[in-house]
Amino acid sequence: MRYRRNRRRPEPARVLVVELRRSGVEFVVPPALTVLEALERRGLAVPSMCRAGLCGACEHQPLAIERAPDGRDNPPATDPIRLCVTTVGTITRLVLDL
Ligand code: FES
Repeated sequence: MRYRRNRRRPEPARVLVVELRRSGVEFVVPPALTVLEALERRGLAVPSMCRAGLCGACEHQPLAIERAPDGRDNPPATDPIRLCVTTVGTITRLVLDL
């Protein structure tokens, strides 16, 4: 019996860039943080309560979202997002009205 080696290529490192349009600030969210935590570390007070994506207190309507291509033909959605559970992942750029 022969075994095949897993030949999947490693996923490219993903980066999430947040642009604060009104402030004119742009920064990269560290991989271990949520967008809410990254904003707080920069001294921005964003309303929050549960920090688990449940209550909606941190929900924000982004001005724009860019996503990593996933091979599907999905248009970029601009639905409201919950900043407390948004991390580095499929979103590569987030423009907020802050
Ligand atoms: S703080 Fe409750 S959903 Fe984000």
